[in-house]
Amino acid sequence: MRRVLITGASAGIGRATALELANPETSFVLNARSADKLEAVRSKVLNLGSPQVEVVRGSVADREIVEIIGTVMSQLSGELVVINNAGTAAFGAFHEADFEMWSDMLCTNLTSSLSVIHRLLPLMLEAGGGRVINVLSVAAEHVFNGAAVYSASKAGLRQATKCLNAEYRAKGITFTSLLPGAVDTDLWEDGKCPPREQMLTTKAVAEAIAQIVNTLKDRVVEEIILTPPLGIL
Ligand SMILES: NC(=O)c1ccc[n+]([C@@H]2O[C@H](COP(=O)([O-])OP(=O)(O)OC[C@H]3O[C@@H](n4cnc5c(N)ncnc54)[C@H](OP(=O)(O)O)[C@@H]3O)[C@@H](O)[C@H]2O)c1
Repeated sequence: MRRVLITGASAGIGRATALELANPETSFVLNARSADKLEAVRSKVLNLGSPQVEVVRGSVADREIVEIIGTVMSQLSGELVVINNAGTAAFGAFHEADFEMWSDMLCTNLTSSLSVIHRLLPLMLEAGGGRVINVLSVAAEHVFNGAAVYSASKAGLRQATKCLNAEYRAKGITFTSLLPGAVDTDLWEDGKCPPREQMLTTKAVAEAIAQIVNTLKDRVVEEIILTPPLGIL
């Protein structure tokens, strides 16, 4: 049996990952802010045979929501898998960016992921193991104009992932960074974007996440860079 937390499960990569991992051996805690979309994902996952699918609606930037996520995860059983996927992106000249906007982006992409890990580590230590997958971006290492804060959030979590691996791997808890290139999702809705037909599909990213989740315990996938056929767009 397995219990999987997915933050940002209402759309895009998170939704596709829930559908990819759904099966009779896997229960879920699904988090995002949009109630209707989350409920729709929950129904689909239940139809695919998952025995228990709990929804925790609210911002992962809210510590009370993270506390509830931890409590609900502790009430399920099975191997613990945490997929930190919730994220926002905004691009443009840094000197013109609104403080609230960019500090919220840092909080959602970086602080909230660490907050989820911090809440769930005691549970994983008690269980004697667990797997954490952080959905980052090629922006964690590649330089894009107008992406200073988004890149900082992803690069910061990438380095934290490496440190956490060093700290907890001997206790059976592993951390993986997944760095996708452009993926065809609503994340691009507000801005100029590369041609959508050249982007990765959410299913391709979800399949990569499923491979990490299903990795045998005799090895650790520390990082995966997954790009579209034409490379970084
Ligand atoms: N699309 C790309 O090209 C691309 C490339 C590399 C990496 N990524 C990363 O992939 C992850 C998923 O992005 P996506 O492309 O699938 O985007 P998306 O379709 O916009 O989905 C983002 C998800 O995150 C949720 N979310 C946003 N803020 C949240 C918050 N404060 N609390 C809880 N949930 C929140 C959204 O749900 P609600 O609005 O309902 O809360 C939604 O479910 C992000 O971390 C993104 O940085 C994306």
